[in-house]
Amino acid sequence: MPTPEPAPVEPAVVTDEDDVTPETWSGVHRGPLRAGEWVRLTDTKGRRHNICLTVGKQFFTNRGSIDHDELIGRPEGFAVTSSAGGEYLVFRPLLSEFVVSMPRGAAVVYPKDAAQIVAMADIFPGARVVEAGVGSGALTCYLLRAVGPHGRVSSYERRAEFAEVATRNVTQFFDGEHPAWNLTVGDLVESLPQGDPAGTVDRVILDMLAPWECVDAVADALTPGGLVCAYVATTTQLGRTVETIRAHGGFTEPQPWETLVRDWHVEGLAVRPGHKMVGHTGFLVTARRMAPGEIVPAKKRRPAPGAYGVDYQGPRPAGLPPAVAEEPYDA
Ligand SMILES: C[S@@+](CC[C@H](N)C(=O)[O-])C[C@H]1O[C@@H](n2cnc3c(N)ncnc32)[C@H](O)[C@@H]1O
Repeated sequence: MPTPEPAPVEPAVVTDEDDVTPETWSGVHRGPLRAGEWVRLTDTKGRRHNICLTVGKQFFTNRGSIDHDELIGRPEGFAVTSSAGGEYLVFRPLLSEFVVSMPRGAAVVYPKDAAQIVAMADIFPGARVVEAGVGSGALTCYLLRAVGPHGRVSSYERRAEFAEVATRNVTQFFDGEHPAWNLTVGDLVESLPQGDPAGTVDRVILDMLAPWECVDAVADALTPGGLVCAYVATTTQLGRTVETIRAHGGFTEPQPWETLVRDWHVEGLAVRPGHKMVGHTGFLVTARRMAPGEIVPAKKRRPAPGAYGVDYQGPRPAGLPPAVAEEPYDA
């Protein structure tokens, strides 16, 4: 029996009316590509170029040029050929792509960790979130998206030049000044009490060199049941952060973890882990704020022998016996 001819596929019709409503402040557009929007061109070797679509302008590549006018008005998700035969995929960048390609002042929180922070620090629409430092504004974009226009993200950054970079990046991503964002240039410990009065904050995210210096200020700002989440790069920072939160006494037992993401190669029978991976980005730790005056019940499990022995110089949790010199370390 002859195979029936497939029905002709009508091209998708997208119009300006299909766009995501601006009141969502999502940073996302739908519908035809418009002048003034950023798009990402990816060549066949995976090299990426971000361009701002401008009427009458050309994008020059090592394989000739592409007229922006050829892209404007088309629905994203197509391949375009440059004047000398180079092929490029055209899409609007995702937030995860934007944050790793935007100009940087300080190192950014990578998308895999931003995803963990949004999920595990329980960032919700309408949440009142404090963030320090703001660095290049990568995490800020994720937080603003998660709290939405009816939430609040108060960002603190002590270096004015980083605050400027972050403002440019966040404003570019949301295509305007996000109504839920407030940026203070100053040290978190000094500025937090004026910026976010005691007991008014649902979540605090710390991405800085010395988060342990901020634990008292964070404890004051958080509402009972609120959550602090710190992102640190090294084990020494992790140990000091955990021990300071633990010794404070007004938080639940801190939960530290890290995530490793491994890409897979899937091609016919060759299905295996990728050969390369990002081995390390950072560690995360979360803890919940107890109500004022409430104390966490003592842990049933005793610390490992020697964990708080004479060689340990950091903050000591309440209720520990004094360190004894002859205590052997026996992990
Ligand atoms: C790693 S960057 C933050 C990156 C940012 N989360 C992002 O995703 O782009 C750390 C920033 O914290 C700032 N910082 C360090 N200690 C601070 C403090 N006590 N108060 C405010 N900002 C602080 C630094 O100036 C730096 O810009």
